[in-house]
Amino acid sequence: MDDDSALQTAELSAIYDAIYADRDDAGFWEAMAAAAGDGPILELGCGTGRVLLPLARAGFEITGVDLSARMLERCRAKLQAEPPEVRDRVRLLAADMTSFDLGQRFAAIICPFAGFQQLRTVGQQLACLDRCRSHLLPHGRLVLDLPNPDPAPAEYARDETGAGEAAAQLVDWTDGRRIRWWMTVSGYERMQQCNDCEVTYEIIEADGSTRRLTETISLRYTFRYELEHLLVRAGFLVVALYGDYDCSPFADESPAMIVAAEPSGA
Ligand SMILES: C[S@@+](CC[C@H](N)C(=O)[O-])C[C@H]1O[C@@H](n2cnc3c(N)ncnc32)[C@H](O)[C@@H]1O
Repeated sequence: MDDDSALQTAELSAIYDAIYADRDDAGFWEAMAAAAGDGPILELGCGTGRVLLPLARAGFEITGVDLSARMLERCRAKLQAEPPEVRDRVRLLAADMTSFDLGQRFAAIICPFAGFQQLRTVGQQLACLDRCRSHLLPHGRLVLDLPNPDPAPAEYARDETGAGEAAAQLVDWTDGRRIRWWMTVSGYERMQQCNDCEVTYEIIEADGSTRRLTETISLRYTFRYELEHLLVRAGFLVVALYGDYDCSPFADESPAMIVAAEPSGA
């Protein structure tokens, strides 16, 4: 990697933390971890540690796995700034959530903020659930956090030119900089329930000059009963379905689709 792309790569992870700093899910994940008792927690797709680090600070022993070297690198750097007792509670590993083998079982496995949505095929989803089942204690709990998908295809189809940018959000960043960012659907495979989203981050420097970074994310939309069937097929019993981080029941207008499941026959 040349210097410019290394810088861009590191910057994307820092931007991630800036634009998602206000997500209102910390209390929910702490409650899920507390419900698991004193047992260790595994976070799939831990990214920059946005969820993992507060859980470690709250006293939970937590392992984070992620496929992205740059997200893990930022997580490690943030972890270094924590007190030793917090650092001691955390283990970070570069691994794929469809094939990890950690040699340990967990009281809870969590996959916050649509990490499971980045698995593009049913084969990958089942492989991930198989790994989860093999890594859970008998009454351990798996919690997957997905968006509530809208069955109207318009939400996923290719955007009209400029539609994504018209909905851009502006976020304050460090050193007087701001980030204007938006997402554009650049590809749509209806039969696969997948789309490709191009995310543009326009960095507005303190002097007003701008520059842009982009990244592409592939997402698969999973519907409520599809998810429940998948879990049963993978040997799980669905124990709760929430529609938001306040644990309200899943409903038509719910922003999220958060499922909690336990290994069946435990
Ligand atoms: C939207 S981010 C969520 C990060 C973090 N859990 C949070 O809530 O902020 C999804 C994360 O999943 C990771 N990811 C995607 N596919 C993965 C895979 N197959 N195995 C492990 N991690 C994966 C990405 O690198 C990214 O860090």
